Amino acid sequence: MSDMNEFHLSAEAIRGTIKVPAHPVKPDITAEEKKALKERIKKLMREQDATLVAHYYTDGDIQELAEEMGGCVADSLEMARFGTTAKEQTLVVSGVRFMGETAKILNPEKRVLMPDLGATCSLDEGCPADAFTAFCDAHPDHTVVVYANTSAAVKARADWMVTSGIALPIVKHLKEQGEKVLWAPDQHLGRYIEKVTGVDMLLWQGSCVVHEEFKSVALERIRRLHPDAAVLAHPESPEHILDQADVVGSTTKLIEAVATRKEEKFIIATDDGIFWKMHQVAPGKELISAPTAGEGATCESCAHCPWMAMNSLQNLEEMLLNPGPQHEINIDESIRERAMLPIRRMLDFADSHGISGKYQGNA
Ligand code: 13P
Ligand code: SF4
Repeated sequence: MSDMNEFHLSAEAIRGTIKVPAHPVKPDITAEEKKALKERIKKLMREQDATLVAHYYTDGDIQELAEEMGGCVADSLEMARFGTTAKEQTLVVSGVRFMGETAKILNPEKRVLMPDLGATCSLDEGCPADAFTAFCDAHPDHTVVVYANTSAAVKARADWMVTSGIALPIVKHLKEQGEKVLWAPDQHLGRYIEKVTGVDMLLWQGSCVVHEEFKSVALERIRRLHPDAAVLAHPESPEHILDQADVVGSTTKLIEAVATRKEEKFIIATDDGIFWKMHQVAPGKELISAPTAGEGATCESCAHCPWMAMNSLQNLEEMLLNPGPQHEINIDESIRERAMLPIRRMLDFADSHGISGKYQGNA
C-alpha cells in the first residue's frame, strides 16, 4: 500500500479542515401535528410534480414519507439510479449534498432541490478538487476511482465513481484489467478494498467523522456482553472495527443482514438513522449501536451524521413553500458533462452485473 507522497495531505491535516456542526434539535410535535404536516408536504410535492429521494440515514419520518409517496429510500447507488427513472420533473433529495449533485449530474433537465445545501459530508469536505487534481496529475499511470461522497469537480477528474455497494466488484474488475488504482477520499474504505482485492492502491487520507468514532475496545466489551449478537459494520469504519464484524457492507447490505440472518440481536457500526429501516424489515430484532466513546470520553457525531440530520419534515415544508435558488442544485455544464462519465460507467457496470442498492425484501 502506498499511502503518502508529496501531493498528499496527511489524515490529520485533512481532519483539521473539517468543522462538524452541532446536531439540530428535533422539534417536539404531536402525532396529529406530524400527520397534518406530512399531508401538507404531500400536497405541495404533488403540485410541484416532485418526488422524494431519501437516504437510510435520514430521520425515520422522512423515510416514511418517501415510501408513502412512492419515492425512494435507499443507499447512494440506488438514489443515483432512481432519479434517472422517476417520471417527476423535480427530485427532492433528502440526504447530503453529493447525493443531490449526483442526481443533477445525471438529470440535467430536472430540477433538483435540497432543504439545506449546507448538508455536506466530511469525505467531500476533506477532498478539495485542486489538491486532488494535483495528486492525480502526479500519478498519470493510475486509474482514478472516487467514492460517491465527493464534489462534482472531483468526480470530473475521475475515471470511475463507486459507492460502497459496488466498490469491490469494480476494483476487482480493474485488477483483472491489470490497472493500478488511485483511490479517494475514504482511507478506511480504500484500505478495506485493498485488503479484500489485493490491489495495491494509492489512498487519499479522508475519513467519515461518524464511522471514525467507533471504538474497538468498547466494541470488544459489548461483544462479550452480547455473545449472541452479530456485528454489522459499514466499510467507512476503521480497520479495527471491520476486523470485529460478521458483515461488512453498504447500508443496503447491512439492512439485508438484519432481515435474513438467524441472530435476533445485532451490534451496528454505522449511522443509527438506519435503525428505522432495520426495524421495519425485522420488527422483532434487537439493535444495539456500536459504542462511539470510551469511558469518560465524549463523542462528536455520536453515531449520527450531523449533515444528514439537517433534513427534517419542517425544513422540507419550508423549502416547498419557497423553492428558490437557495435550495436548487446547479452545476457548471462543463464539470457536469465530465462528472457524468464515471457515474454512468458505474451504473452501466451495475446493470450488466445485476447489482442493486435497493433493499430487495418484501417490506
Ligand atoms: P451507502 O452508499 O452505503 O448508503 O453509504 C453512504 C454513506 O454516506 C455512508 O456514510
Ligand atoms: Fe459523509 Fe459520514 Fe455523513 Fe456518510 S455518515 S454522509 S460519509 S459524514
